[in-house]
Amino acid sequence: MADHVVPPLCPIPDGLVAPGAATAPFRSLVAIDEIPPGAMRRVSFGDLDLLVAHTSEGIVVTDDRCPHMAAPLSIGTLDGCVVGCVLHGATFDLATGGVLAFPTIGGLDAGGTYRPVRVPTGSPPRPEPSATKAHARALTRTRRMRFYPARIVDGRLEARVPVD
Ligand code: FES
Repeated sequence: MADHVVPPLCPIPDGLVAPGAATAPFRSLVAIDEIPPGAMRRVSFGDLDLLVAHTSEGIVVTDDRCPHMAAPLSIGTLDGCVVGCVLHGATFDLATGGVLAFPTIGGLDAGGTYRPVRVPTGSPPRPEPSATKAHARALTRTRRMRFYPARIVDGRLEARVPVD
């Protein structure tokens, strides 16, 4: 029988525990065997969708909602610790919770500073949106990532999930 190596858990960056998660009960998410290095999985509890990602720094549990406009990160890309969103090309560091590339359509960062539209290298310029749409985009805030404390018990990943 093959030896089972228990993968490390990525520490949660300071101040980025999801609201209500610090004292929530642990719930079973997924068997460790189902999330090999480089894998991402969505696990849902009611309307709370979680992303389990096996990064190069260990396993993380965060929201399966892009901090920009809530697209599912689980269908994006994972390169080391960097998750990429399919909708507007933002990338986030799952080890630090930081934004590495801001969404292409711009908007507010978590601190409220406006970040302009950006055109990725090699991409054609996008058509100008209507004034209303541009205004909505400019006021859309890319929030901070939030993480759920996790542990591994008997080969399964558990996390503190604040749902009834
Ligand atoms: S929803 Fe992810 S970058 Fe816009």
